[in-house]
Amino acid sequence: MGPSPTTSCHFIVFSCCLLLAIFLICFSWTNPSISSTKTNTLNRIAISSPSPQHPLDPLSLEEISSVQSVLRSYPQFSFPNAFPSIHTLSLEEPPKSVVLAWKPGRTFPPRRASVIAFTSGKSHVMTVDINSRKVLLHEIVTSVSGYPMLTPEDLATAAFIPFSNSTFLDSLISRGIDPSDITCAPLPSGWFGPLEESRRLMKIQCYSHKDTINFYMKPVEGLTALVDIDRNETLHIWGIGRKIPINSDPDTDYRYEVQKEKGTPSSCKVNPILMIQPKGPSFEVGGKHLIKWAGWEMHVRPDARAGVIISQVKVTDPETGKYRQVMYKGMASELFVPYMDPTDAWYFKTYLDAGEYGFGIQAMPLDRLNDCPTGAYFMDGVFARADGQPYLRSDMVCVFERYDGDVAWRHAEGPTTGKHVREVRPKISLVIRMAASVGNYDYIIDWEFQTDGLIRIKVSASGMLMVKGTTYENMNQVPEEEDLYGTLITENVIGIVHDHYINFYLDMDVDGSNNSFVNVHLVNQETNEGVSPRKSYLKVKKQVAKTEKDAQIKLKLYDPSEFHVVNPSRINTIGNPSGYRIVPGGTAASLLDSHDPPQMRAAFTNNQIWVTPYNRREQWAAGLLTCQSKGDDTLAKWTEKDRPIENRDIVLWYTLGFHHVPCQEDYPIMPTVSASFDIKPVNFFKKNPILRAAPYSKDDFLTLRSQAFA
Ligand SMILES: *[C@@H]1O[C@H](CO)[C@@H](O)[C@H](O)[C@H]1NC(C)=O
Ligand SMILES: *[C@@H]1O[C@H](CO)[C@@H](O)[C@H](O)[C@H]1NC(C)=O
Ligand SMILES: *[C@@H]1O[C@H](CO)[C@@H](O)[C@H](O)[C@H]1NC(C)=O
Repeated sequence: MGPSPTTSCHFIVFSCCLLLAIFLICFSWTNPSISSTKTNTLNRIAISSPSPQHPLDPLSLEEISSVQSVLRSYPQFSFPNAFPSIHTLSLEEPPKSVVLAWKPGRTFPPRRASVIAFTSGKSHVMTVDINSRKVLLHEIVTSVSGYPMLTPEDLATAAFIPFSNSTFLDSLISRGIDPSDITCAPLPSGWFGPLEESRRLMKIQCYSHKDTINFYMKPVEGLTALVDIDRNETLHIWGIGRKIPINSDPDTDYRYEVQKEKGTPSSCKVNPILMIQPKGPSFEVGGKHLIKWAGWEMHVRPDARAGVIISQVKVTDPETGKYRQVMYKGMASELFVPYMDPTDAWYFKTYLDAGEYGFGIQAMPLDRLNDCPTGAYFMDGVFARADGQPYLRSDMVCVFERYDGDVAWRHAEGPTTGKHVREVRPKISLVIRMAASVGNYDYIIDWEFQTDGLIRIKVSASGMLMVKGTTYENMNQVPEEEDLYGTLITENVIGIVHDHYINFYLDMDVDGSNNSFVNVHLVNQETNEGVSPRKSYLKVKKQVAKTEKDAQIKLKLYDPSEFHVVNPSRINTIGNPSGYRIVPGGTAASLLDSHDPPQMRAAFTNNQIWVTPYNRREQWAAGLLTCQSKGDDTLAKWTEKDRPIENRDIVLWYTLGFHHVPCQEDYPIMPTVSASFDIKPVNFFKKNPILRAAPYSKDDFLTLRSQAFA
């Protein structure tokens, strides 16, 4: 939801060097032997596979390079026409039927790249076949509004544009700000009508980094430049907020090296804790992307837009020892982060982070000690720059086992029954994690797999609030009728109220592709008079959704339902259909007017659950081209067709949300808040699938001392 800031003005030269340095680092990583050496030495499970091993493996550095060279020699893009900028260059998944039919050892389906390029105001959607070096498809998009995802190069260019405008510089100087003290953030401007169409626009706002790394807490309030990022023009400057001082708090820096020098020592002293696995991790990695653990198998790949894509999730049935399908594909499809301040410098802050910034592009390398525990396996992301050149984002995803002291199941008998029994199983799970730093906010996405067949999807937010400068230093100065649009969190700083919504695309394939969505409605049933001392009970009424509109769910506490995805042709031995259910969590709902432009663009938040028939073209809940889109290519539009969804290949979309009314503790950096929802087996297994799991015994840890402290 925020900027990818760039240091400006006097720092231009420095910043350019920095950018160059980053690219140089990227170049040095383009040698796969370097990266595999690194993997070998730092991971317990060492894997190196220069070429793809699975049809869904992401494009390798070599494959991206060869797509780049195909595009360079493509007649429509070569001299005298300009080479376009490349906004997406990623694996084009083979058709689902082909992937499902593929088995290791068989010939590989053709490797293809899906490309979105942009030139002369037009978006080009292309498919490039890597082996034949041919462009198989080339469409210029005219049917829907919007522009492709911003490239990191777009963001870097945009932030500098106002610095060649004297009005902008004068405005800074008249506020007493040295332009070399500021860092500017390029922000998507959203879409608010015809004046903002037919060119790529961003809004630039700035912060002071004087004496702190945490410039986000020191906004230069109100000063906003509207820029055309293709023509490098400043179109408009709002010089409002001149009287608002910059936050002068000397204690905003969150780095340990700074904080450890300050005041009284932290009372938060906890001895270091390590996760110790005397026999090593119990997951295996096939190739680089296929994870096997405790009966589970899933394919994991980093993606520039979605962050992480989990595919072909299968779980072993303890009765047969065979894999059963659960989900074909799951990913974060879109985010929506609207700020609740309608004034000039704030109304447009209604971010769609995946489609605008690229959730994967913004995912920085994970910290090997503090982001993921010991024993974690790290996966690199391989992405393309705007010129089509590949680069490597190291340690972007981590995979690890978790034991946090919880119980998987237990029972103990009290003395009255005379049965001396205490049976407990520790709860262990497998976590696949990435963290995207979308400007000020950090989002941690965990896919957690439990041994009992449950999948938990957790979203956590940390990082910095997006704050507003104010003249107020105390609430007693604020007139009662004045709406601050947020909370005064320190002198001269307001944390603006906002929401976060994260939509997950879940292509469920429970025991096969044809599934149905069942609303297991819980209703109050009155008893007949004289039949029971009870007046009422809860009764289950199952409704199978026939079409898309039957499956648009707004959650209601006093009208509850369970939501099952079942396979109507897999009826088990006692007559129930095999299923998995979505257990909602993080249930904030958008309260914006449905005709508010941001709400139209993010109309996927109109319901918490939607179900659609599988369609390759429908993957991004706010549309393929999200920047400045008008909401004409969203989940809400597609489902207007009200297509049949019963006993079909269906996709379930779940939106997890948070309302965020900021508080003082969110300053100057927020403690992490989390919410999650579950995908849980329902009549899928014959009985508790971990009935035969063994408890720990002391013998399991005999080797501990020698190994852990060697
Ligand atoms: C805009 O600025 C960028 C970076 O300085 C430059 O590469 C690009 O050519 C410029 N575009 C125009 C139209 O001047
Ligand atoms: C500076 O920005 C203003 C918009 O406030 C614009 O009218 C003017 O043309 C710009 N000047 C230059 C040199 O780009
Ligand atoms: C799934 O359902 C579709 C539509 O009813 C049908 O055409 C298809 O054959 C079914 N597939 C399987 C594997 O049963």
